[in-house]
Amino acid sequence: MTDAQLISSEVERLFASVEFTSEPAGLYDPLRYMIGIGGKRLRPTLCLTACGLFCEQLPPEVFDCAAALEVFHTFTLIHDDIMDRSPLRRGVPTVWKKWNEDTAILSGDVMLIDAYKRIVKAPSFCRDAVVELFSKTAAEVCEGQQFDMEFESRTDVSMPEYEQMIGLKTAVLIACSAKVGAMVAGAGAEECETLYRYGYQLGMAFQVADDYLDAYGDEKVFGKPIGGDIINEKKSWLTIRALQKTDDPAAFLEAFCREPATPEERRAKIAEVKRLYDELGVADDARAEIRRYSALALEAVSALPIDTTPLSDFSEKLIGRAK
Ligand code: IPE
Ligand code: IPE
Ligand code: MG
Ligand code: MG
Ligand code: MG
Repeated sequence: MTDAQLISSEVERLFASVEFTSEPAGLYDPLRYMIGIGGKRLRPTLCLTACGLFCEQLPPEVFDCAAALEVFHTFTLIHDDIMDRSPLRRGVPTVWKKWNEDTAILSGDVMLIDAYKRIVKAPSFCRDAVVELFSKTAAEVCEGQQFDMEFESRTDVSMPEYEQMIGLKTAVLIACSAKVGAMVAGAGAEECETLYRYGYQLGMAFQVADDYLDAYGDEKVFGKPIGGDIINEKKSWLTIRALQKTDDPAAFLEAFCREPATPEERRAKIAEVKRLYDELGVADDARAEIRRYSALALEAVSALPIDTTPLSDFSEKLIGRAK
């Protein structure tokens, strides 16, 4: 087995055995539902991959940290789906749709607490630093989500503002996942920072890819509704780039800010905005941007005096992702 296969089977084993409180079922069932379905498990996989770079055998505590990262991530998704009114995630109905909003709020809250119970199991030599990084990251994700929502009602969001927003809502957690793995392995401060920089750039690539797939993905594979960002007037990478390139921003915004009243009108709006994206060639630009960020991620780790193949394999997989 390759390193990547070994880590992937460790991640599977971890989530097959991870236990959550059972009662009241109304509170914990949604948690089990979302964790059980499982997405790509990117953050725990990266945490274990980073850890494995710096030690022969993965220390048992790294599994608690990896689980904490995934539980925290899944909590953000449950709340994000309420905020984005999204009916589908990982190919199944979202928690607020399947149960209701109140349940999604409270189950999300208890997941955040569950994530803390796990992250404090980091080895004592690095526990304080791990918990501090985790808390800083969690607050930053909220900050990013706030910008994301505020940008919905703005039409003048710049590329640097967009980059700051996705840096906060997405990249910092991926950066944190890589760094925590290195910290738990006992890597030096400079090496841990390097892993953080790698994760951050990879996270930027990851969110641009998510924005791209939101318009151009296949719903069956992506597991989320296609065109949701267009309907919500999200300032995605594609939108910002289109506004940079168009000669007629008013015409673009007229199509983009139209409020569809029926399912047919929704479909027509998505098709019209995608037609404008196509005309402007922003999908190709997005693919180039994903590659640019991935190259930056690899550049960040290029000077490490260890074999970083697992990290290049990891980012290679993410560049080509369809889900
Ligand atoms: C979705 O994250 C939210 C973003 C940061 C784009 P993932 O794409 O990692 O979702 P899952 O965990 O695989 O479902
Ligand atoms: C979500 O961004 C980032 C977080 C959940 C923090 P999106 O809103 O683009 O994520 P998806 O597309 O719903 O997964
Ligand atoms: Mg969102
Ligand atoms: Mg969303
Ligand atoms: Mg998205």
